[in-house]
Amino acid sequence: MMLRRVVTVASGKGGVGKSTFAVNYALALSRVAPTVLVDLDTGTSSVRNTIDAPVQRDLYHFLRRGEPLERCLTTLPGRLDPRGLFSNFAFVAAPQHTMEELINFSDERRDRLIRAINTLPATFAVVDLRAGLDAQVLDFLPHSNSGILVFTPHHPAATMAAAEIVKALLFRKLRLLFAHDGPLAARAVGRQQLGTINALLDRVEDSYDDGIPNLDAFLADLFHAFGDTEVVRALAANVASFCVHFVLNLFDGVHETFDGAVAPFVRSLQRHVSAHLSLHNLGWIVTSPEIHRSNQERRPIVLQTPTGPEGEIDPIQKQLDALAKQVGIEVFKRPQPKPIKDFLLSIDPDRALYDQLEVLNAMHRDKASVQVRDNFAYIVRRAVHLLNSLPPDQFGQRRLLTPDELLPALLESIGSSTPAPAAVAAAAPPP
Ligand SMILES: Nc1ncnc2c1ncn2[C@@H]1O[C@H](COP(=O)(O)OP(=O)(O)OP(=O)(O)O)[C@@H](O)[C@H]1O
Ligand SMILES: [Mg+2]
Repeated sequence: MMLRRVVTVASGKGGVGKSTFAVNYALALSRVAPTVLVDLDTGTSSVRNTIDAPVQRDLYHFLRRGEPLERCLTTLPGRLDPRGLFSNFAFVAAPQHTMEELINFSDERRDRLIRAINTLPATFAVVDLRAGLDAQVLDFLPHSNSGILVFTPHHPAATMAAAEIVKALLFRKLRLLFAHDGPLAARAVGRQQLGTINALLDRVEDSYDDGIPNLDAFLADLFHAFGDTEVVRALAANVASFCVHFVLNLFDGVHETFDGAVAPFVRSLQRHVSAHLSLHNLGWIVTSPEIHRSNQERRPIVLQTPTGPEGEIDPIQKQLDALAKQVGIEVFKRPQPKPIKDFLLSIDPDRALYDQLEVLNAMHRDKASVQVRDNFAYIVRRAVHLLNSLPPDQFGQRRLLTPDELLPALLESIGSSTPAPAAVAAAAPPP
């Protein structure tokens, strides 16, 4: 079986429960289809510290010893999974000892790892990234959505940092597109125009410059400078189709979470990135001593099956099993790029906030009586729904792309046709 989706788990800052989420999410997801969890947080190796399984080979063996990645998979021992309910789960442990070259690996190793992850024998790969925003994190994130971001109402700086990840992702894409030796330059877009665009981008990216606060203002400026050209329209479509998916850890009530995390996150994205992004709250995980204890005992919470008659599968597992039948139904529509004027006029920031509050309320009603483990089942249900209903490049990726593959993929994704030669250059001169 070939890999069908790679989903990364990231957070702007450490300690928000990213690994706790990634481990339990991957375990729950493996009930739906074969899943491999890859621990790329090579500094802390937290996955192997929270799963009590003997690791024969880890990422070290892949990176340094040239072992194929699928030979570096660890499965659960019978002790952790007595009923064999999680036989479709495996993980790649990060190296046990920190080694500089394995923490910050070379481009060559990165590309080899990306190719290996893409050919893992599983339906889903879940990638636990380290905190922060360095190249090593950005290189593994998808280019047209955020992967899954984790943050919590208890760590406001981490919420802001999660919004920064979205900004960094979108800017990385735009920079590549408008590079002086990039794909648009090859299409005879004038040097001067690329210069204008990059100068505008510099100003948007600079949070201390309020002149062009975000990409919406940037697009308005481009529109005034160049008109409603194919490139400008494609860029607007690109921003509008960018999906942000998030999970709230340490949930402590709808209003606390809304005020403490969701609203600041949405406002920050609107202010510094764009008010057009699609935001998907996948669900939350409550604060629970049980979760923490499970981590310490190295037996993740999702593996803790409630006591029942031997052989009886508990209701949560049953729900997840039912989902397995749904994987693979892929019906989705890709919105057509709108005229740029409509795009610029269609902003309603308060509506987006209100929608998020509604989502939180609806989730709350849906799970009035929850067990902690049900948080993960719920998130998997939401995720499978999105995996099936969104185009593949809007939730995770079909496969990770190396930087070389990024540009062609970007061009393909920004419109039905590639930009006509001189699509920008033919338009009005910059102001
Ligand atoms: N929902 C929760 N309830 C109780 N404790 C939690 C919860 N989520 C995480 N923790 C605890 O918080 C600590 C940090 O969690 P975790 O290691 O998953 O965070 P992280 O974001 O992966 O951190 P790092 O940046 O170090 O990789 C751990 O001790 C974990 O047991
Ligand atoms: Mg971690």
